Amino acid sequence: MPGNDPLHALRPATVLVADDEEAARRLLRRILEPAGYAVVEAASGTEALDQVASLRPDLIILDITMPDIDGVTVCARIKSDPATHLIPVVHITGMTTRNQRLAALAAGSDEFVAKPFDIEELLTRVRSLLRTKNLTDHLVSVEAVVVALARTVEARDNYTEKHLRRVADRSVEVARRMGMTEREIEGVRLGGLLHDLGKIAVPDGVLLKPGPLDRAEFALVRRHPEAGAEIVRPLRAFDGPEPAILHHHERFDGTGYPYGLRGEQIPLAARVVAVADSFDAMTTDRPYRAALSQAVAFQRLEDGRGEQWDPSTVDVFLAAYAGRVPAQEASEGL
Ligand SMILES: [Fe+2]
Repeated sequence: MPGNDPLHALRPATVLVADDEEAARRLLRRILEPAGYAVVEAASGTEALDQVASLRPDLIILDITMPDIDGVTVCARIKSDPATHLIPVVHITGMTTRNQRLAALAAGSDEFVAKPFDIEELLTRVRSLLRTKNLTDHLVSVEAVVVALARTVEARDNYTEKHLRRVADRSVEVARRMGMTEREIEGVRLGGLLHDLGKIAVPDGVLLKPGPLDRAEFALVRRHPEAGAEIVRPLRAFDGPEPAILHHHERFDGTGYPYGLRGEQIPLAARVVAVADSFDAMTTDRPYRAALSQAVAFQRLEDGRGEQWDPSTVDVFLAAYAGRVPAQEASEGL
């Protein structure tokens, strides 16, 4: 029973049953309700999409052949919308052709259940998909909590609003242009959002000190990449951002911290976040200096190519934001 599962503790899961045949919907309701699920029905593809938009069911059981919008198209729309793409879709296959099944798989369908139903099999599949969905929802909310934590650090550090968002967005743009994989890009995005999370471990008196820091205070500030990495390390879904958090203060010439890594020893995600973070810090008012203009900041990046920052990351950043042609392409054009 879902009610006995701690992951379902708060409310029964809602299952949307979309089938143009009333008898089929009634049968599924008779199977699912006694197992503890709340069932809503849709008699057409259009109705199914409306219900998904308004109710956000936890799982959808979808007939393939429906008169208006077929089940494969409905599935494709659900799976292409970031707001609904994590909802599992189970297709009912009756007189379904192999091509329809392949199309459903391509549309992102999670499971097939053949008619006539084997009740135990259907319930087992529903239960297992809902368990995965609950874990995913849980991880998405863990991410929200950690990002909220990072925002409190940002506010405390006197950064103007949206610093983290800008660092994350620009890092993602650069990562994309560099041809990183979607998974790597996700690590870069989270790394951009969470890079300074470890400042939570730096006392206010040090973080907000207007004058120069003494040696011990500076050592505390320099701990923040490791402190941040330690916070995200136990969150298994968060293996993506750790390298960017841990290494965003390494310098390309090997004089950065915490490990003094040099050149390509520094994970690419960290080299990307370092450029985006530095640019945003330069163009933001800080307690100890006013913001630099973008033109001056672009020039500083250019001047620091190969010393503070990875030259190819700087080139891609300048191509994206300063409209400059990367050096390599410019020389190829000669
Ligand atoms: Fe930092």
